[in-house]
Amino acid sequence: MELSVVDAGSAVELNGAYLRLKDLLGLGDRSLGSASIRRAEWRDPNWIELGLSDGRRVLASSEPASVTRVVRTRGQILTMGAAGELGIRSGGAIVLNGARIDRICDVDEVLPAELANAEEIDLGDRLVTPGLIDPHTHLLFLGQRAEEFGMKAAGKSYLEIHRAGGGILSTVRATRAGSLEALSQAAIANARRLLAAGVTSCEAKSGYALELKGELRMLEALRIADNSQPVDIQRTLLAAHTVPEEFAEASDDYLALICEQLIPAAVATPGLLSACDAYLEQGAFDLQQVRRVFEAARRHRLDLHLHAGQFSDLGGAQLAAEMNALSVDHLEFVSAEGIAALAKTGTTAILLPGAALTCRCPAPPVAELVAAGVPIALGTDFNPGSSMTASLPLMMSLACTMFGLSCELAWRAVTVNAARAIGRPELGRIVAGAPADLVAFDAADYREVPYFLGANLVAAVVKSGQVVIGAQR
Ligand code: NIG
Ligand code: FE
Repeated sequence: MELSVVDAGSAVELNGAYLRLKDLLGLGDRSLGSASIRRAEWRDPNWIELGLSDGRRVLASSEPASVTRVVRTRGQILTMGAAGELGIRSGGAIVLNGARIDRICDVDEVLPAELANAEEIDLGDRLVTPGLIDPHTHLLFLGQRAEEFGMKAAGKSYLEIHRAGGGILSTVRATRAGSLEALSQAAIANARRLLAAGVTSCEAKSGYALELKGELRMLEALRIADNSQPVDIQRTLLAAHTVPEEFAEASDDYLALICEQLIPAAVATPGLLSACDAYLEQGAFDLQQVRRVFEAARRHRLDLHLHAGQFSDLGGAQLAAEMNALSVDHLEFVSAEGIAALAKTGTTAILLPGAALTCRCPAPPVAELVAAGVPIALGTDFNPGSSMTASLPLMMSLACTMFGLSCELAWRAVTVNAARAIGRPELGRIVAGAPADLVAFDAADYREVPYFLGANLVAAVVKSGQVVIGAQR
C-alpha cells in the first residue's frame, strides 16, 4: 500500500488518495499547532504512524481513506458541471470515498453490493451544493472598530478615517499586541463563523501587523487555524496593506523591508503561504510600489492578488492582468481598458459587496465584466473596518440586489470561480474525484439562498467526507 508525505508535510498520499494532516487525525479532534509531517509509516492496515516536525509521534487512522458514505437528497443538487452551467440534478445519491467524491447515482438507484454497509447521510429534500469558497477575507484580526462604524454612519468616509490614523492602523495596533495563541484562537473562531454559513475553504490575509515578525506570526496563526478546524485556509501575505506609522515618511523603506526581508523569510518556511496581495489606493500604495512588491513575490513563486479600484481607478486591473494575478478585488472603479485586459488573461474579478455597502461605494460594472467574459467571484472581505460579516450567502444576496449579478452567476462566483481565484481549481464542483466538500441548505430552489436576505439556511456541511455541521433528518 502506497504511502508518502506530500505538500511540504501538510498531507500524505495514501493509496493514491490525497489526505491532509487534519483529515487524517479527525477534523477538530485535536489541535496540531504548526506541526507538519516528516515521516509516515504503516502500523497495520488501519493505522499510520506520523512523525511530526515538533517531535511528536502520533497514530492516525487511515479511516478517511476507506470509509464510504452516501449522501442522499431528493432536492436539487448543483454539480457546477464543467460546461459553465449550474449542472442542476433533481435528487441524487452522492457516494463519498473518504475525502473524495466517488460517483453520483440516481437517488433511487440500487447501489452495488459493496456499498451495502456504507454510512447513509439522508438530507431529505434539501438543496445540496459544493462547499462554498470565500476567496477574500481578513479573518485574522484582534479588536474591532464599532466606533468608526458610528463615525461612518454619521457621515465620515472610510478614507477620511484612514488618513486620520484610524482604519487599518487601529486594527494594526490591536493585532500587533496579540500573542500567537491569541491570534490563532481569533482565526479559529472566525473560520468557524464562515463554516456556519456554508464555507469549506477560504483565503485569508495577513496585513494587520505590518512588521517582519508580526506578519510572520499572523501567517503562522492562520496555519495553526487551518490545522485546527474544518475550513481550509489558503494563506496570503498582505504586508503591503498600508504604510505602518513608523515608516510614515519612508514608505519606500517599508517596501524594501517587504521585498528583501519579509517575502524571503515567509517563503523560507515550507507551506506557510501561497500568495501575496497589496492595496493599490490613495493613502496606501501606488502602481509603481505595488509592481515592486509583485515582482519580488513572483521571484519567490507566490501567486498574486490585488486590492484595486475600491475608491479610484489607478490602473490595477491592467497591472493584475499583466502580471497574471489570480485575482483583482473590489473593482468599483475600473476602466474599459482594465476590463479588456482582465478578459485576455482570465484573472478573476473578486467582488466584495459587503465592503461596497459599508463604504457606500457604487456597484462595480458587472454587466461590462460579464459581457467581456471576465470570471467573477464573490468574497465576504470579512474584516473589522469595511466588511464585518462572515456570511457569503449574504454577499450573494447583495451582489444580486445591489450589483445586478444573476443568481446563476452568484452561484458560480462562490464555487468554481472562487476556487480558481484562490488557486484551488479542484474545489467547487460535485463531480467524481473532487474533494467531498458539500453544503445542504433548507431550500427547495438554488435561488432561495440569495433570495433570503441575511437568513442562515445552512442545514449541514460535509468537509473532506465528514459531517462537520448538521443533523440528519
Ligand atoms: O478590503 N481595503 C483594504 N483592505 C480592506 C479593509 C481593511 C480594513 O479596513 O481593516 C478591504 O476593504
Ligand atoms: Fe480586503
